[in-house]
Amino acid sequence: MSNDQGTIEARLTEQEYFRPPSKFVGQANVSDPAVYDRFDDFPEGFEEYADLLDWEQRWDETFDGSNPPFFEWFVGGKLNASYNCVDRHLDERKNRTALLWEGEGGEQRNITYRDLYREVNTMAAVLREVGVQEDDVVTLHLPMLPALPITMLACARIGAPHSEVFAGFSASALADRIDDADSDVVVTVDGYYRRGEFLDHKQKADQAVEEADSDVDTVLVWERHEGDLHDDVELVEGRDVLVSELQADHERARVDPVTRDAEDPLFLMYTSGTTGQPKGCQHRTGGYLSYVTGTSKYVLDIEPDDTYWCAADIGWITGHSYIVYGPLALGTTSVMYEGAPDHPHKGRIWETAEKYDVDVFHTSPTAVRMFMKWGEQYLAEYDFDFRHMTTVGEPIQPEAWLWYYKHIGDEDAVIVDTWWQTETGGHLITNLPAIQDMKPGSAGRPCPGIEPAILDDDGDEIEPRSGRAGNLAITRPWPGMLQTVYGDDERFIDEYWQRFSDTDSDDWRDWNYEAGDGAVHEEDGYFRILGRLDDVMNVAGHRLGTMELESAIAEVEDVAEAAVAAREDAEKGEVPDAYVTLREGVEATEEVRERIVAAVEDEIGKFARPANVVFCDDLPKTRSGKIMRRLLADISNEEELGDTTTLRDPSVPERIREQVHGD
Ligand code: PRX
Repeated sequence: MSNDQGTIEARLTEQEYFRPPSKFVGQANVSDPAVYDRFDDFPEGFEEYADLLDWEQRWDETFDGSNPPFFEWFVGGKLNASYNCVDRHLDERKNRTALLWEGEGGEQRNITYRDLYREVNTMAAVLREVGVQEDDVVTLHLPMLPALPITMLACARIGAPHSEVFAGFSASALADRIDDADSDVVVTVDGYYRRGEFLDHKQKADQAVEEADSDVDTVLVWERHEGDLHDDVELVEGRDVLVSELQADHERARVDPVTRDAEDPLFLMYTSGTTGQPKGCQHRTGGYLSYVTGTSKYVLDIEPDDTYWCAADIGWITGHSYIVYGPLALGTTSVMYEGAPDHPHKGRIWETAEKYDVDVFHTSPTAVRMFMKWGEQYLAEYDFDFRHMTTVGEPIQPEAWLWYYKHIGDEDAVIVDTWWQTETGGHLITNLPAIQDMKPGSAGRPCPGIEPAILDDDGDEIEPRSGRAGNLAITRPWPGMLQTVYGDDERFIDEYWQRFSDTDSDDWRDWNYEAGDGAVHEEDGYFRILGRLDDVMNVAGHRLGTMELESAIAEVEDVAEAAVAAREDAEKGEVPDAYVTLREGVEATEEVRERIVAAVEDEIGKFARPANVVFCDDLPKTRSGKIMRRLLADISNEEELGDTTTLRDPSVPERIREQVHGD
């Protein structure tokens, strides 16, 4: 999509509606449209979500908007997130499976709520033993193993915010995040399996700790095979501690959940923005947990007796909100899978769905497109029956939606297309599945209590239901929203509020959250999300900032300048193309290209690798020297070149285009 917001074009084709099956509606957690009226009673409506939790002390004030945009929720309330996700289920469902973990090699672990209680208590004692105190930020670099939710919940238990860094991030990316969070303790694992291979994961933490400026004094190391450290992995004396060794001393430990204020931070989740430095989105305890529990119940329709599988990675916000916190707060069974979806065969996901009799399934459009490419023959031999399915993270093309509906849902499951962001904590735009009809490619209505608006570039509201594209903004606060950017309140204001708010006002009504996405409010009241309008791209559901990629490439010796543009990709949604100029006298060789790709892998991670590296003589720049990435995106997407009249040298993009595509 073009960065030039003046020229946003919505390409819409009318789609038909699909009614939710009546057997779904009959059993749904919420099917009465009056829910919207209840939540329109702002802010008290949101208490309906908070009432799903156990509070040690009820709040005095639902919402405090007196210091915008630093809004507070459930002020004066006290609770503990670990208590809500674990302890409170012990009376009624201690033998119910909380986490159902499937290893890539086929191992299985059924962790009951009782087991989880023991594990979380023990890990909380371990964290305390290595010196973690309330409010210390602990950085986690863990893959899809039970160790990850256990460590998160153990941190929550002792009031230490966790900052989980997706396992696919490189050592350097981990080091940046350790530094930003100023963590003394890092938690990792010796390794994990991916496509049958054991990956040595700990080496990334080793390198990161070396690179980081923060003084990391302890690296806690889980073992993929408990009590059996992998032969290739070595411990650094005086710094590394095996979790299993300390666990032995705390097997029967009971660590009381620390009383947290509703506004105390629960975790940080770093995400890409429009600058090179990732932002630590800080989420609060009470508002966040209320919001994800409420939306898990109303939007995902999770029941305590369900087996629910969100096939995302806990290293991203989707996994935090909708594998760990929301589902466990509701006391359901949440499935986790360690490995690759096509290992050892392309039916692995469906085989697992059958094995565990999954009721509610959750995945990304990228995964749906991949399943579609593999073909329905991989589904045929497995017997599974989803009641409800979710998509998240990217726009889903109607074609992929229809395939999901027909082949995976058997035309018998509802689908919710959930729009939200790392910053929003939980779903903001999506249908309530028993209330609205589904429309392929359209996220649907705002969630209860959420008020989006489409604004033009001057910040004026575009007529609702006009079908005209513009900037998506949220005009009323909600409990799941981030509190701030960790350690940088100014950046919080700059990135999300500055553009569409009256920043001199102390009335919260004058403050509008800028989502960074383009969207259309359609005649039927549904929202269709068009994609990012800023320099953030979405690669296979992973959010990536062009600036991060560019700064990684610019560090390569011999590179003079780099610009990254998003190319549309049938499978991954978008992929990065890098346009690079080299220093005087340097030849554009395969070896330089390899160094550029390696730099991105080292600085960010393999998932961010550029799809193409194009060496150019010059980059398209305005007279003031600003690189016009929009024109590079036109080249990557084989679209007609946009306006070049403001360029210093208008012939540059045409030359690059010829070089890439020929005449
Ligand atoms: O562009 C939107 C896209 O993903 C961005 C948020 O990415 P992230 O913070 O990584 O969170 C992803 C998981 C919530 C948004 O700005 N996006 C997310 N959901 C959708 C979407 N685009 C279209 N349709 C969606 N359902």
